[in-house]
Amino acid sequence: MNKKITVIKGDGIGPEIVTQAQKVLDTVAKKYDHTFEYTDILMGGCSIDACGVPLTDEAVATAKAADAVLLGAIGGNTSTSPWYKLAPNLRPEAGLLKIRKELGLFANLRPAVLFDQLRNACPLNDEIIGEGFDMMIMRELTGGLYFGARETKVVDGLETAVDTLTYNEKEIERIAKRGFDIAMKRRKKVTSVDKANVLDSSRLWRKIVNKVAENYPEVELEHMLVDNCAMQLVKDPGQFDVILTENMFGDILSDEAAMVTGSIGMLASASLNDTKFGLYEPSHGSAPDIAGQDKANPIATILSAAMMLRYSFDMDAEADAVEAAVKKVLEEGYRTVDIMSDGMTCVGCEKMGDLICERI
Ligand code: IPM
Ligand code: MG
Repeated sequence: MNKKITVIKGDGIGPEIVTQAQKVLDTVAKKYDHTFEYTDILMGGCSIDACGVPLTDEAVATAKAADAVLLGAIGGNTSTSPWYKLAPNLRPEAGLLKIRKELGLFANLRPAVLFDQLRNACPLNDEIIGEGFDMMIMRELTGGLYFGARETKVVDGLETAVDTLTYNEKEIERIAKRGFDIAMKRRKKVTSVDKANVLDSSRLWRKIVNKVAENYPEVELEHMLVDNCAMQLVKDPGQFDVILTENMFGDILSDEAAMVTGSIGMLASASLNDTKFGLYEPSHGSAPDIAGQDKANPIATILSAAMMLRYSFDMDAEADAVEAAVKKVLEEGYRTVDIMSDGMTCVGCEKMGDLICERI
């Protein structure tokens, strides 16, 4: 098969981790007789420096014309980088929000799996880890607080900021359906997370999720308040299969879920619209403090590329091969510094990429 991939290397560790993921894709292409054509676009701080905006309309058009987008990470140090002196709509993150919105990527899948080999890197104790965990966070990505009206103004002489959290029933229904569809292919359990004891948007969320659930009688549905969910994730992560939640709660819970898997450097993600098109990126940020030092963990980006093979290209065998290669490398004791533990072999970003390619 011939597929067009738009590549966004981005800022910080972005270029080095994406390079490793492309190396893995090239290895897959060679072995399985595919052609992947890459076109680079700029987004984030590098685009601000080159074009004055975090994402140009031409770059969006290039992304739209591809079969999928592979993204590293964007942004810099929010306290020291000059990018954060710009107006909010000109900062690096605005590019990411723009591409999510323009491409209609409303469904964000973040699988949080504890690899057996990484039990030592998991901050939870053995009793809590039990037989391990494997959950899918399904985060709504184009609504809620991220895209609501916001302003900062002076009210009664006081500087006052407003952010609005809006969801309509259609937006909730389509993400809920995706959540239930994924659950049907997994352990058939959905935990819908909201704050229905306080927020109207959460009460609507719960109502619509209940309605969608009627079409999935085989799926067990439970509702959980977000504060309780944050606690349950570290108390008994094994209870979760699919966590279905709105944009902001999903942002926060997915970082937490990532950490209990041992490192945020392991968590992949896919952002999908209602076609086969998707944007694939690690869930972590651009880590400017370690950029360019060959210290970054490329695994989350490599696993994101595997998700691209699976969800956008229907290349299941190829995706399996990449995931198996990652497991094999971990089994053999290779670790990047973020997941390093006693007796293991510490390797850099590039070496980790090579080791994975060799095992595909
Ligand atoms: C993520 C990130 C982004 C988000 C930031 C960089 C805007 O934290 O993808 O989780 O909040 O969605
Ligand atoms: Mg986040």
